[in-house]
Amino acid sequence: MPADTNPAGDIFGGWLMSQMDLAAGNMAGRVAQGRGATVAVEGMQFLRPVKVGDEVTLYATLKSVGRTSMRIHVDVWARARFAKTGAKVTDADFVFVALDDAGAPRAIPDT
Ligand SMILES: CC(C)(COP(=O)(O)OP(=O)(O)OC[C@H]1O[C@@H](n2cnc3c(N)ncnc32)[C@H](O)[C@@H]1OP(=O)(O)O)[C@@H](O)C(=O)NCCC(=O)NCCS
Repeated sequence: MPADTNPAGDIFGGWLMSQMDLAAGNMAGRVAQGRGATVAVEGMQFLRPVKVGDEVTLYATLKSVGRTSMRIHVDVWARARFAKTGAKVTDADFVFVALDDAGAPRAIPDT
């Protein structure tokens, strides 16, 4: 939407990063079965701009699970409103840590 643009008229990178954090966070919550927080974002690069009106699709993949942390890869694709196909616009690894009620790391339960 236009409210999500930068001064040049393309979608603001921070908006896209927040959508990626939400996508990874949804998966982290499912894996950790509770509260967690983003501790690191690695390897993000913006390959092409997202334009107003594009359909944006995010794919989250669980890459690895540690004692208290999870590494989740997020791929983002955009398709112009009336186009048949889309293209990848960015990807990154999000590391989430499962937290207890006090905000300290907790072990991820066995699935
Ligand atoms: C998440 C937090 C509690 C972790 O505390 P910590 O003292 O670093 O905890 P630990 O050192 O025990 O690390 C916990 C896990 O995170 C991993 N980790 C910590 N920092 C990391 C980093 N920069 N990159 C990758 N993994 C990291 C550790 O390897 C460990 O994983 P494991 O248990 O699976 O082996 C603390 O860093 C924090 O509160 N950060 C702020 C989180 C936040 O507010 N996020 C939203 C930003 S607005």
